[in-house]
Amino acid sequence: MNNRDRWKVYKRVSVMFFLAVVALTVVQRGSISVGAPFELERQVHMHLFQGGEPLEEKSSESHQGIKGFWKADRRQAQSKPRATTQEPRVTGNSSPRTWDVTSTNCSANHNLSSQEWFRGLEDHFKQFLLYRHCRYFPMHLNHPEKCTGEIYLLMVIKSVATQHDRREVIRKTWGKEQVVDGKRIKTLFLLGKPSNEAEKANHQKLVEYEDYIYGDILQWEFLDSFFNLTLKETHFLKWFHTYCPHVRYVFKGDDDVFVSVDNILEFLGSSSHDKNLFVGDVIFKAKPIRKKDNKYYIPQALYNKTHYPPYAGGGGFLMDDNLARRLHWAADTLELYPIDDVFLGMCLEVLQVTPIKHNAFKTFGLVKNKNSKLNREPCFFKNMIVVHKLLPSDLMHMWNLVNSDLVCSQKVEIL
Ligand SMILES: *[C@@H]1O[C@H](CO)[C@@H](O)[C@H](O)[C@H]1NC(C)=O
Ligand SMILES: *[C@@H]1O[C@H](CO)[C@@H](O)[C@H](O)[C@H]1NC(C)=O
Ligand SMILES: *[C@@H]1O[C@H](CO)[C@@H](O)[C@H](O)[C@H]1NC(C)=O
Ligand SMILES: *[C@@H]1O[C@H](CO)[C@@H](O)[C@H](O)[C@H]1NC(C)=O
Repeated sequence: MNNRDRWKVYKRVSVMFFLAVVALTVVQRGSISVGAPFELERQVHMHLFQGGEPLEEKSSESHQGIKGFWKADRRQAQSKPRATTQEPRVTGNSSPRTWDVTSTNCSANHNLSSQEWFRGLEDHFKQFLLYRHCRYFPMHLNHPEKCTGEIYLLMVIKSVATQHDRREVIRKTWGKEQVVDGKRIKTLFLLGKPSNEAEKANHQKLVEYEDYIYGDILQWEFLDSFFNLTLKETHFLKWFHTYCPHVRYVFKGDDDVFVSVDNILEFLGSSSHDKNLFVGDVIFKAKPIRKKDNKYYIPQALYNKTHYPPYAGGGGFLMDDNLARRLHWAADTLELYPIDDVFLGMCLEVLQVTPIKHNAFKTFGLVKNKNSKLNREPCFFKNMIVVHKLLPSDLMHMWNLVNSDLVCSQKVEIL
């Protein structure tokens, strides 16, 4: 053997040795790994090797693919390992992937104080106007995982720290998370910060513990006040836009209403809705209330037209995902308005969408007379989608009645 031949053998042996080490590493990783993360890693390795040039495939693009791959639904990912270079559909439009507001240093707009019309206003309007330009706040409790995978119906419920019992009853009744005929239903509560010191001291810790147990509370850093309900609306729309790429429909409502999920599903399933579904207890041509002692009083300085655009009572309404996304955009083009459901009506007007009035939504009460027996009649509730205002104990009771072997003389069509 001359020097040259010896050199050839050396080369061959070292190449084979190198390949053997690489192969061993791969086999070892594959056989040791039983847990899912390793499983995925192995598939990625195999995928890279199938390409023939294991090292060169590690371009930035394929890294992207792997990152996206981790976020994808696990079952789907495992059955289609070849899809690694494709982003999951998450990036439909340029929505950020996390809540991007992290500091609250929005200060009062004292420019207003010098103006005559402002000085004549009641204190709560002043408070509202001083902070109206503060659009978004950081999150204290967040659950991005709620929106992973395909969701048919996302139910979001406005609540406040102190209402633990209402949330508890909702989780046991209409807010129970379930899968109906393959359609996943998820529930979330929307909270701000407790509005006074006593509540802060006593209830905030409880809210955190409640969330630790159930994992279903979104909480933002703005004060929970009547006029800040609009912030709850805009924050939810932004949250939805950020985290929920695969939700079909959204039900949004109060924490003191009765809801029939069966009827919602029947309604959504049995008619073909075109785009822009927005349905609820819609009021047309409502006049702004000018009596000062009314909860909904609005001074001329805040709204000077004679009518509001059509809007649905905030107690409970349904919309489709596409419209929710567009509403987020529309909301950002408008100045905040202190009444949340009217504000949403203004957003719909911007989008030139007319909300649909449906008789199964009774967010302003079932019948005008509050003492009427009909308000306690389960056969009425059985045919409704939303009914306004029940105490937690009454809600539980009515829910049990409606879901018992209730015999009603007739079933009213929901559609
Ligand atoms: C908020 O604070 C950050 C950092 O502390 C600062 O960069 C930013 O300019 C502030 N924003 C406003 C509106 O004051
Ligand atoms: C207050 O007025 C000043 C000067 O007119 C303006 O630059 C500033 O943006 C105003 N502040 C707010 C919060 O609107
Ligand atoms: C809304 O919340 C912000 C942030 O906590 C607060 O500064 C503001 O005063 C609140 N507005 C009203 C009208 O309560
Ligand atoms: C009504 O309010 C708008 C915006 O606040 C203002 O531009 C307009 O001049 C007001 N109209 C009347 C009649 O006061």
